[in-house]
Amino acid sequence: MAQARKAPNKKNERAAARRTAVKTYYNYIGGEWVPSVSGEYFENINPADTRDVVGRFPLSTAEDIARAVEAATDAFDRWRRTPAPRRAELLFRLGEILVRHKERFAAEMTREMGKVLKETGGDVQEAIDCTYFAAGEGRRLHGFTTTSELPDKFAMCVRQPVGICGLITPWNFPMAIPSWKLMPALICGNTVVLKPAEDTPLSTINLVKACEEAGIPPGVVNVVTGYGETVGAALTEHEGVRLISFTGSTETGRLVASKCAERNAICSLEMGGKNVIIVMDDADLELAIEGAVWGAFGTSGQRCTASSRLVVHKKVYKRFSQMLVERARALRVGNGADPKTEMGPVINANAVAKIMGYIEIGQREDGAKLACGGKRLTEGEYAHGYFIEPTVFVDVAPQMRIAQEEIFGPVTAVIPTNSLEEALEIANGVRYGLSASIYTRDVNRAFHAMHEVYTGIFYINAPTIGAEVHLPFGGTKATGNGHREAGTQVLDIFSEWKAVYIDYSGRLQRAQIDTAQMG
Ligand code: UN1
Repeated sequence: MAQARKAPNKKNERAAARRTAVKTYYNYIGGEWVPSVSGEYFENINPADTRDVVGRFPLSTAEDIARAVEAATDAFDRWRRTPAPRRAELLFRLGEILVRHKERFAAEMTREMGKVLKETGGDVQEAIDCTYFAAGEGRRLHGFTTTSELPDKFAMCVRQPVGICGLITPWNFPMAIPSWKLMPALICGNTVVLKPAEDTPLSTINLVKACEEAGIPPGVVNVVTGYGETVGAALTEHEGVRLISFTGSTETGRLVASKCAERNAICSLEMGGKNVIIVMDDADLELAIEGAVWGAFGTSGQRCTASSRLVVHKKVYKRFSQMLVERARALRVGNGADPKTEMGPVINANAVAKIMGYIEIGQREDGAKLACGGKRLTEGEYAHGYFIEPTVFVDVAPQMRIAQEEIFGPVTAVIPTNSLEEALEIANGVRYGLSASIYTRDVNRAFHAMHEVYTGIFYINAPTIGAEVHLPFGGTKATGNGHREAGTQVLDIFSEWKAVYIDYSGRLQRAQIDTAQMG
């Protein structure tokens, strides 16, 4: 009995000691770092070692969102009236700050998210690229002039900001994706409330600290951490928020969209994928394997662009499958902070359950052949993390669940095909339409495939991942709702057009009623 009483006390002491050693972070509202109104916190855990608490973050509620929206509203007029080239100067400064902190940001991102250091460095780099690209737009933000149907009348179009933007971002690119949204929102003159994923708030806070250091005025960028069901929902439903930009699962995205529809808010969605690499019989197989391994297992397969289907011509199917399995088996799984690691853990316990569930479905329900992997790693260095072996299913049929549903983990499905036409049908035969690729040396086949595949992104002789920030990013069908992020196309999300007519005739001219005069 005595012992039983003592044990919990000791445990409590240990927990208390751990809490005091753990750093506490705050929301950023109106230029101040503040705790949540409730005063409660949640813990951010390292997925490679769950004993390691990265930090405590405010467990916010609708009240915090209301305060952040108020701050963004107060800051809006001044920010939208700041000339865009001046806003751009702040973004250029921000880009330089991100460059300076890149290594630390990458290390902290690996600790909270798990992916290997090279990839978290790439994530920060994507944020930097986005920042500079958006800053460049500060001296463009082009509108256009056009003709008028009436004489002595001039017509043009200019962009205007939309207002307060709510940005809801996922954990797989914890600095890059917030930047895809934040930088164009800012250059267009909007103010922002950011809600980062609860698994990776630190990287977004790092980004926003850099915004503060760059001198972006108080209230222009606000961050509220917490859970989607409370904070994300409150942001989505807030009447003062004109636009919601969301990246995440198709299921949550649809909820967000219907909430936005109820109050007529602008809504931009980036959601799931079931991306295909087609490997033709004339492909450079070595290259295709390199691409498939990187596309399927990079970021532990936790990308919406991940190469989760490999449709391979029967003439090379056997060799391709063997080579892929060899390479997948040889991948070094481990803590992403170790430079030797090639594939890190998955994000959390729910992800483990979902991915392991699909591995089970693949074998039991679908009847596909598990060629390698398929197990959770739990021994030794893996004992305290969320590690799953790189997993390859072969002899997969296109309609199987593992070939149709987004798994979002290190699992890929190899599907044999007889022809390019059949491969294209398989490629298009899923509900998603984000990214696709073909490996072939035949230019006719490559262009034919490019034309026929209905996705937002297409690659030739490269895997389905690795989009660049100056090209539009997004997908068709269940992947999106018609918008594109990145590129200059993203400006159409974060600005609205104003058509301007200047009548210098000195008299009333009635469009559609007065007959246009010649000369
Ligand atoms: C995502 O997985 O949500 O193209 C985005 C890529 C990355 C972005 C992925 N640049 O793979």
